[in-house]
Amino acid sequence: MARITASVYTSHVPAIGAAMDLGKDHEPYWRKLFDGYAYSRRWMRENTPDVIILVYNDHANAFSLSMIPTFAIGTGSRYPIADEGWGPRPVPEVAGDAEFAAHITQSVIQDDFDLTIVNEMALDHGLTVPLSLMFGKASAWPCRVIPFAVNVLQYPVPSGTRCFRLGKAIRKAVESYDEPLDVQVWGTGGMSHQLQGPRAGLINREWDNAFLDRLVQEPAVLAETPHVDYVREAGSESIELVMWFIARGAMNDAAGGTPPKVVHRFYHIPASNTAVGHLILENPA
Ligand code: DHB
Ligand code: FE
Repeated sequence: MARITASVYTSHVPAIGAAMDLGKDHEPYWRKLFDGYAYSRRWMRENTPDVIILVYNDHANAFSLSMIPTFAIGTGSRYPIADEGWGPRPVPEVAGDAEFAAHITQSVIQDDFDLTIVNEMALDHGLTVPLSLMFGKASAWPCRVIPFAVNVLQYPVPSGTRCFRLGKAIRKAVESYDEPLDVQVWGTGGMSHQLQGPRAGLINREWDNAFLDRLVQEPAVLAETPHVDYVREAGSESIELVMWFIARGAMNDAAGGTPPKVVHRFYHIPASNTAVGHLILENPA
């Protein structure tokens, strides 16, 4: 059977992708940030899964105000990179896993989560920057990726508790797939940031670090945080963090098993005008 071995959490600031694409990642401004992912890249090489279920948000590139799915699963075999206004990032296309994605879709919809089924979509920085951070520069991504898009742009957005429950449903789907796949679930976006208005540039280091602590220790309680608390304490775009609960809810302990091991934790300010947070959690073998 397929098995979830680990979950990865990371911000997806587009300037990080631009820094890599323009060869600026060794410049002093960026060095500390990329140093924080050096261990992650080594760990990824030793723990490359067969498939990543990559929970991210589209930023009005594949979708727009004309169509806003709350939860959308990519069931295609391959996905092009989105042009976000200055040409697609020069990173490899993403290979999906149509059969596994169809199984997850079947299982999760039967579990009462209404997923939008997407066979074709372009992938933006929400998905490509986490891949770049974790794998570095690549001529091809080393595993298949099932894109799982969540609406965190246009209210109403899903609650943390619903995302946590969805993670459990995804776990159940993975564990009922009759292939010996090593699967990771990634939750991306965040941490504190606000991109517009008088509070643009808002960063709340204490709040972010408490979020990281509690995501490890008491995710079900943390998931109950109301949306307005994110917006007030950590800026309007920090609401992207609800996506992390999908990955966290897919871990063993959310289904009554043993708590995960924290294999890496990193926090950095600033990247552009944004805080960057990162965790790797491993399920016990
Ligand atoms: C920026 C955009 C994002 O989508 C994000 O999550 C963080 C920062 C930006 O434009 O700087
Ligand atoms: Fe974003």
